[in-house]
Amino acid sequence: MAIPFLKKKREIPEKIFEAPTIGIKDIIAPSSIALVSDHLKLGNRFAKSFFIFSYPRYLSTAWFSPVINLNTPMDIGLHIHPADTGMTLKQLRKKITEVQAEIIEREEKGLIREPALEIAYKDLETLRDRLMTAQEKMFKLGLYLTVYGDTEKELREIEITLRSILEAKLIYIKPALYQQKEGFNSSLPYGLDQIQVHTSINTEPLSSTFPFISFDLSSNEGILYGINRHNNSLILFDRFSLENSNSCVFAKSGSGKSYMVKVETLRQLMLGVNEIILDPENEYRALAEAVGGSFLNISLASPNHINPFDLPTTLREDEKPEDVLRSNILNLVGLMRLMLGGLSAEEDGIIDRALTETYAAKDITSETDPSTWPERIPLMEDLEAVLEGMEGTESLVRRIRKFTKGTFAPFFNQPTNVSMEKPLVVFGIRDMEDELRPIAMFIIMRYIWNKVRSELKKRILVVDEAWWIMKTEDGASFLFGLCKRARKYWLGVTTITQDVGDFMKSEYGKPIITNSSLQFLMKQSPATIDLVQKTFNLTDEEKYLLLEAEVGEGIFFAGQKRVSIKVVASYTEDQIITTSPEEILKIKRAKQELARG
Ligand SMILES: Nc1ncnc2c1ncn2[C@@H]1O[C@H](COP(=O)(O)OP(=O)(O)OP(=O)(O)O)[C@@H](O)[C@H]1O
Ligand SMILES: [Mg+2]
Repeated sequence: MAIPFLKKKREIPEKIFEAPTIGIKDIIAPSSIALVSDHLKLGNRFAKSFFIFSYPRYLSTAWFSPVINLNTPMDIGLHIHPADTGMTLKQLRKKITEVQAEIIEREEKGLIREPALEIAYKDLETLRDRLMTAQEKMFKLGLYLTVYGDTEKELREIEITLRSILEAKLIYIKPALYQQKEGFNSSLPYGLDQIQVHTSINTEPLSSTFPFISFDLSSNEGILYGINRHNNSLILFDRFSLENSNSCVFAKSGSGKSYMVKVETLRQLMLGVNEIILDPENEYRALAEAVGGSFLNISLASPNHINPFDLPTTLREDEKPEDVLRSNILNLVGLMRLMLGGLSAEEDGIIDRALTETYAAKDITSETDPSTWPERIPLMEDLEAVLEGMEGTESLVRRIRKFTKGTFAPFFNQPTNVSMEKPLVVFGIRDMEDELRPIAMFIIMRYIWNKVRSELKKRILVVDEAWWIMKTEDGASFLFGLCKRARKYWLGVTTITQDVGDFMKSEYGKPIITNSSLQFLMKQSPATIDLVQKTFNLTDEEKYLLLEAEVGEGIFFAGQKRVSIKVVASYTEDQIITTSPEEILKIKRAKQELARG
């Protein structure tokens, strides 16, 4: 008889006291899974699986990308099972006999022809030919989607969007009722096809499901540049996030270059970026007025002056006065070369020395305090006086007189009286004589550059019709220098040009392009397209896209990515920036009427 309490004391195994080890699965697994007929609840999240059960006769390329680029989390399982071609051919033969019989029957009865039958007949025959010659193969395709949301309502909304995108293309989906677990598993990368809803499909339409075809350029920062034409997503981008913030825009006249830059300007201003625009057509005036910026008309007759001898008002800590002075004198020599119609090697040296002396005469040297320089900036006539005192300078003095005493003096021989306080500053140079325009652009750019160096701010400099400045070697070299150094001064330079050919003629053209992380191509003319293709390594598709682009459409390159873009502006933006004469006249009339009350 067993008497319990006489039993030998049992040892309790130590394992019981051991804490259970927690594995990675315990960490990532949801706390619970609830299975309902038409969805799953994974912890706090809801998931719902669908399958595609019907496709149209014709699948266009990239039909699937709007779904892939949908801004909601989603898992997609694409199961492709190869089918036996021999078997398929046999089935097709049977099918085609049926179709043919029906056609003949209708004919015998004297009924009018049925296009659907004829198309089916043709499709079947083509397919048979292609399968026979092994140009195509047959597959069974199962496509399953699982979407996720925080609430059932969110799931429903996603379902509606998904349905409307697909049904517009005559593709129909169904939720995997009572098969949510299988649907979920089939969407995960296990290679498990547990739903088994298949559509027979040949190689060509199958290839159109390939998902990775379009780039997305949406980020959380930056401004809206336009709409991605591949998938209708938004192109949101912050150019200051790239290795440099320069951009260049190329397109033929009237294709919307200035428009796109104006749209960008308006939106950058909203983010607090300052904009400076060099405007050879005075077409940014309305924009400047609308946002309370300043429009500086620069011409011989205008009261706005910029002294080419200006120096930075404050120096950065890492800059030495002698370097600043030296680099200023160097690019002043470049400017003189432009103004005086070229300099011989000897004259080059003389001008260099004369400039140093002109500054020194005003006590501006590497030894003096840079903060006192701005009070004593010399004028063109001071340079003339110095040159007069030097040997062998007769020709130089004669040529420089044009700018100190002649008709050009009102612009070139005056102290600076403009300022760049406003967030948007436009320098309009339409009224400047053509021959002086590159010189004026150079002087303005030097002025801007000195300002940029004096105070660190997020800025964008737009050089519209940049070929004006690229025409001369010195202008081009200055612009290139600017692009190269802009990044360190938080500056992004936008260059706009009509003709890539002109731009590339200059030895600085290519380096300016390669120093721009952002590139923007719009409609091109057949004459230049080959050069554009070569310069930007375009594919043939991209080439045709640019040849046929509408106004405001183009390709947007950002670093390594490229997307097809359409620039869109809101109604208000459009009213501010349009250059269409018809629109402008309308706005003018409306304004007049408003004034009259
Ligand atoms: N995205 C757009 N949406 C609507 N209209 C546009 C768009 N882009 C440009 N336009 C209109 O097309 C016309 C030409 O545009 P824009 O002045 O920008 O051309 P451009 O390329 O700068 O030409 P140019 O080289 O001659 O200066 C303008 O009337 C402008 O209003
Ligand atoms: Mg323009």
